[in-house]
Amino acid sequence: MEPPKKQSQTKPISVSAAGLIVYNYRPGQERPITSYVIGRYTCGLGPRDRATIYNTRYENMIDTAFQKCINPDCGAEFDCGQALFKCPSCGELLDIRYDWDKIYVPSKLSEFARRWATRENRLDFSGVWRFRELLDFCEDDYKVSIGEGQTILQQNDAVAKYVDMKPGCLFLQYEGLNPSGSFKDNGMTAAFSHAKMVGATSSACASTGNTSASVALYAHSCGVKCTVFIGSGRIAFGKLSQSMDYGAQTIQILGDFDDCMRQVQDVCSKLGLYLLNSLNPFRLEGQKAIMYRIIEGLGWDVPDWIVVPGGNLGNSSAFGKAFSELKQLGLIDRIPRMAIINAAGADTLTDLVNNKKLSWNDSKIDRAIIDEYYADLTARNFSPHTCASAIEISRPVNLKKCLRAIDICAGVVRAVTDKEIIDAKAIIGKYGLGCEPASAATIAGLKHLRAEGVIGGDERVACVLTGHPLKDPNVTVNYHKEKQGEFSNPPIEAPNDLDAIIKLIQ
Ligand code: F0G
Repeated sequence: MEPPKKQSQTKPISVSAAGLIVYNYRPGQERPITSYVIGRYTCGLGPRDRATIYNTRYENMIDTAFQKCINPDCGAEFDCGQALFKCPSCGELLDIRYDWDKIYVPSKLSEFARRWATRENRLDFSGVWRFRELLDFCEDDYKVSIGEGQTILQQNDAVAKYVDMKPGCLFLQYEGLNPSGSFKDNGMTAAFSHAKMVGATSSACASTGNTSASVALYAHSCGVKCTVFIGSGRIAFGKLSQSMDYGAQTIQILGDFDDCMRQVQDVCSKLGLYLLNSLNPFRLEGQKAIMYRIIEGLGWDVPDWIVVPGGNLGNSSAFGKAFSELKQLGLIDRIPRMAIINAAGADTLTDLVNNKKLSWNDSKIDRAIIDEYYADLTARNFSPHTCASAIEISRPVNLKKCLRAIDICAGVVRAVTDKEIIDAKAIIGKYGLGCEPASAATIAGLKHLRAEGVIGGDERVACVLTGHPLKDPNVTVNYHKEKQGEFSNPPIEAPNDLDAIIKLIQ
């Protein structure tokens, strides 16, 4: 099933005064002429919207993908040789788009199964790159992989019972089995491949912990420097230990994740660092693979529902895009519905969608609703709080893409309390392979949706468990030792005496 060799991009047609190499990217197409720079160059835009453009080995670029602004009034397009993160014209989010007629895409998803037989090839082994035709934005030589995506889709009847679902209907997708212990590796393998493609040497991210761990791991594996910004006192110890251990420069800011997110964007613009947050559209391309693997785990069939925790809303955005593309390509015949679960202490999406009635609205999002909402958060000096620190975010950067995903997947949004999260987490630990608190929001949310009758007991549901249980041992230990819930399983103190110990066990 190997695709035919890619065509190289058109040669440069002129060099501008500022050292810009100007291409006619694809002669005869509508896309405007786009540009590259020799060395590193920062465009003269406002600080938030600046684009860092790197020296690109343009002769190796492929012409199957491009970047496109999601704002329909703008719709600007850019080649993939630029590290932009926001549209330089209007400041909106960017998507990666493909010229599918130029890509060899298998006629059936099940054809990807053949790559299992050739997994000595590092790209066929990767749980992301073995679907590489579905994220075809760079040459294989640039692709970075550390063996991400060897994850499990587990059917779990005991957890199904907890949420009142029929046996055989509930599936748990364990993304904690990735090399850095969270789903982030799916995105980082793609983003670092792009970073290599554009010749980036230094990178940065803001993080509630898992992004920083994953960035640190990939950066050191492919020789890119990295700085991670974390909120002071807001990060689980397992995650903090990883970024330090993997050699990242770790900066703790006196503030929350939203403060870190603002700072990192400005720092990246000013210093020309490659930004690895989910604003980076290449990262989301990698995260689409989580859905491909769920489909694979179901024998190349789609579930009825995907349930995912909502933080910065990168996953939900990526999943919606994945399904929309698969449908467009005729690789699936229906799109599953999606439930996005917030923590009650960080419920911006839930509030905006369910109470303020914010929607994609055929891409004409009512920005006034968002602006008013954020102005109110600022006026109240609001800082989100939840034990699920991974999703302790009140200004999700992918909000608009997520609204699109909700539209694509007929999505619903719910918020769950910390108590519901830690109880669900204990159930996933007791009957499954465990997960960190944010991941357990899925099961807590599913319980709500079952009680409401939104999800049927016999529908097939796949919950994305985004992070490993050892990421946040404090929440787990406190739950059990301090008997915080009905599933607490505290250690029993025993005297150092054989008979007494045996008596306890019997
Ligand atoms: N689950 C876990 C374990 C996470 O680490 C995150 C996000 C999410 C869910 C939310 O995913 O942003 O795609 O909606 N963690 C980021 C970080 C923000 O910095 O590690 P999302």
